[in-house]
Amino acid sequence: MSNKMWGGRFSSSPDAIMETINASIDVDRHLYRQDIAASKAHAAMLADQGIITAGDASQIAGGLDTILSEIEAGKFNFQRALEDVHMNVESRLAELIGPAAGRLHTARSRNDQVATDFKLWVRDTIDGIDAALADFQMALTEKAIEHADTVMPGLTHLQTAQPVTFGHHLLAYVEMMERDRGRFTDARKRLNESPLGSAALAGTSFPLDREKTAKALGFDRPTGNSLDAVSDRDFVMEALAAATICAVHLSRLAEEIVIWTSPLTGLMRLSDKFTTGSSIMPQKRNPDAAELVRAKTGRIAGALQSIVMVMKGLPLAYQKDMQEDKEGAMDALGALSLCIAAMTGMVRDIEPDAARMKKAAGEGYATATDLADWLVRELNIPFRQAHHITGSIVAEASKAGLPLHRVPLETMQAIEPKITDEVFKVLSVDRSVQSRDSYGGTAPKNVRLQGKRWLKRLEKG
Ligand code: ARG
Repeated sequence: MSNKMWGGRFSSSPDAIMETINASIDVDRHLYRQDIAASKAHAAMLADQGIITAGDASQIAGGLDTILSEIEAGKFNFQRALEDVHMNVESRLAELIGPAAGRLHTARSRNDQVATDFKLWVRDTIDGIDAALADFQMALTEKAIEHADTVMPGLTHLQTAQPVTFGHHLLAYVEMMERDRGRFTDARKRLNESPLGSAALAGTSFPLDREKTAKALGFDRPTGNSLDAVSDRDFVMEALAAATICAVHLSRLAEEIVIWTSPLTGLMRLSDKFTTGSSIMPQKRNPDAAELVRAKTGRIAGALQSIVMVMKGLPLAYQKDMQEDKEGAMDALGALSLCIAAMTGMVRDIEPDAARMKKAAGEGYATATDLADWLVRELNIPFRQAHHITGSIVAEASKAGLPLHRVPLETMQAIEPKITDEVFKVLSVDRSVQSRDSYGGTAPKNVRLQGKRWLKRLEKG
């Protein structure tokens, strides 16, 4: 039997391989909710415009509602021979309501239908991701406020640089997530134009009201060019670009969690809820969730790469290549949602070992910059020279195996005679972080202020 939907000019059915390569139902069945919503909006508009009768439209709507409940109840028989979700739904509609079903596709093509459905799906997904990111920001902020005073080593090149507070470190990720949310919000704004009614590529001769279907589906307006509407997959690329950047951020925190919880640093601990054991080494507490977040970033970035490759050589308008837009995007955005949830859980769960962090913060001459700054401030020595003097003091300290605050005053004075014992006040890690109170700096009072600011913003939603 040739295809029910388009088989008019065909005399035999497709080869089994043709059917398999052509089918997208295993992937696009996830669009069923959006497909049914868009079909209902289209049918209602066709009736309002006098293109189909009100009776047909109401039969169509009733049938579509039945199909929705069948799918949700897991009672719908998706058929590969019907290629995709659009034809599966329409074919079932014909079984349920008879000839009126055939009127639904008036002034519509699968090309505008799939663009509409997928935009709605991406939009719903972005909304879910935004809410999850807000929850993640809340977890980070609450932890940051709790640890506004908890000192830890700040690193550059993974070498001890200057002491920072754990709260400050966590709030850095709140900022990143805010930019990520901004990127998703921007993508959502640009995607929110309805392709429905663009038909196959050229528009239609039927007197549609595209504003009406756009509004019914929560779009801001109809798209302005029918060729662009059916050819556009920017919204997929843009959502995946935002997802990739967000995943990169999550992956960096995941990597930090791996470092912090390694016995080599022992700076923090994840509870049993977020660690796993080894089948052979009984002592192990592996940070698998963090490692998987790090790894899934590769899949997410890969999905962006693959849609870009699919689209790059396509002339206008719809090409079947574009059917390959969904699998990677659905996988990647699903993976991102899972990563956000896992990171939120880990941030709530993680507990720093404050004493170890403080000790580590003071190691590696982390307050050397504080000493140089003191020479500038108190002795009016130019910074470059102060840097040099401090370098010599660090060298002496290192030779003697002493931390900076234990170097005898005489040793310092042998290098710079004007140094007084006042200098010791700036050499502790606590003093160091307290002093860094420039706007955006790590001082606990700044962290508390910023934390409160974020709480207020996040509570407002
Ligand atoms: N399953 C198709 C897709 O996802 C729907 C559009 C098909 N249009 C067509 N003219 N073959 O892209």
